[in-house]
Amino acid sequence: MEWWREGVFYQIYPRSFKDSNGDGIGDLNGIKEKLDYFEYLGIDAIWICPFFKSPMVDFGYDISDYTSVDPIFGNIEDFKSLIDQAHKRNIKIIIDQVYNHTSDKHPWFVESRKSRDNPKADWYIWRDPKPNGELPNNWVSLFSGSGEESVWTWDENRKQYYLHLFAKEQPDLNWRNEEVRKAIYDSMKFWLDMGVDGFRFDAASHFYKALDINAKKGPQIKKSLFQSSRDEYYWDPFTARPETLMEVENIVKFMNKYDNRASVGEISSDMGLCLYLLFTIQGRFNIAFNIDFLEKLSMNAKNIRSLVETLDTFFGNRAWPSYVTGNHDNRRILTRMIEGLNVNYEDKKRISKLFATLLLTLRGTPFIYYGEELGMEDTYIPKDRVMDPWGKALWPKPGRDPARTPMQWDSSKYGGFSEVEPWLPVNENKSLVNVEDEMKDKNSVLNFYKKLIFERKNHDSLRIGTFEIIDLDDRILSYKRNGEKPVVVIMNFSSESVKINWNGGKVILDNYGNAELPYLRPFEALLIEI
Ligand code: GLC
Repeated sequence: MEWWREGVFYQIYPRSFKDSNGDGIGDLNGIKEKLDYFEYLGIDAIWICPFFKSPMVDFGYDISDYTSVDPIFGNIEDFKSLIDQAHKRNIKIIIDQVYNHTSDKHPWFVESRKSRDNPKADWYIWRDPKPNGELPNNWVSLFSGSGEESVWTWDENRKQYYLHLFAKEQPDLNWRNEEVRKAIYDSMKFWLDMGVDGFRFDAASHFYKALDINAKKGPQIKKSLFQSSRDEYYWDPFTARPETLMEVENIVKFMNKYDNRASVGEISSDMGLCLYLLFTIQGRFNIAFNIDFLEKLSMNAKNIRSLVETLDTFFGNRAWPSYVTGNHDNRRILTRMIEGLNVNYEDKKRISKLFATLLLTLRGTPFIYYGEELGMEDTYIPKDRVMDPWGKALWPKPGRDPARTPMQWDSSKYGGFSEVEPWLPVNENKSLVNVEDEMKDKNSVLNFYKKLIFERKNHDSLRIGTFEIIDLDDRILSYKRNGEKPVVVIMNFSSESVKINWNGGKVILDNYGNAELPYLRPFEALLIEI
């Protein structure tokens, strides 16, 4: 069985994981220092967000050189040594590849914007205004705060517009140009030759565009990326082009020349599950993020059940599902789940453990977002500390910084992340929520994750077994994972005690510490061996 199906992935936002050189920003050597931690938890693979040379307008998602490390994070030797050390411990490393766009400081764009006839003139998406002076089309930037800003920015030099789906400092590459494709494949080759175990392809559903289609006017187009709603099933005019799907097949063929590498696509569109399936069926990406547990779904037992059942039916053996409960673009799961509830620290721990149980027992590859395993929450960021370009556009609404604050290693002033004031503030709850103290506490969220991951390793059923819903109560989600050692998972997503009709089996994990079946207490989660 492929490692990317069975393994547990852990997402690292490198600026915030561990600062090894005292500049308040995390780096590659910081990650290397913490490899013991992944072993402790039982992590199989880490995904590191971009650490390549970048002006950092979008904190690394605006790349100015695809094959070099930004000095903030270290150098290429540091990365080689990180791969080497991780591989010695059987930990795989996948890295982000941002090929929808570059930075406007990338030498390719600097050249492209010089004239209409230089060798790279066609490497980006340049257009004249329409004869009546209008913009080439009516598309709205995914980073638009007001929902009005265009994807087109005027360049005085070329007297033309260039397209950027995200910030204006992130011009989109022209994938229809053969030389561009060659340069992209060369960069993939560079990292594959070095020994990375795979890629996470950023914004992968946007590679090719159909510029002649105007976006449908209506409420949907007022929404930008992080507000879009899955329910509307709105076909974004610029995403999900058949050309992109064909290109994904080429990418995967290219990666298959190497042994054992994994491809993970970031597919963002209002097409939801359909698109997610299209991008992962045979010959396409191994995995695409299923982002329904992020901002999309109201997380009660009924909604989660309907999603996981649909997913299981449609995906079947055609494609392999995945689950995430948090990432660097969304609010943290615990923060979202306790909104409007009157909860104390013990309740928070229980709720974190409940969602850990869901993430690590569904049929599909789980991705843990750094700090989730501690029960980290969003951090309040005062206006003068806002860093995220999207957060600046949205102010006073919070952007993405609150979920990107430093990892909490211990209870010291800067949470053991750095010796100096970090680039984003450390959450005050570091005094309770931190690795050092949670390692010592057998009832901590951290040790619950560790036990869950251990049970996954111990039960084939949890990793690759089939999935079967058990009907108990509307407030309860319960399913069986079949296999040699079947496991039943029972989770109460409500704040009420529920009596269920269940007997038998041996409880192997419980977020209260002691099961009281047939009663399930508020937010209780159980794993039962049968
Ligand atoms: C993806 C990344 C996000 C980034 C955007 C532009 O959605 O997850 O962080 O801002 O692409 O590269």
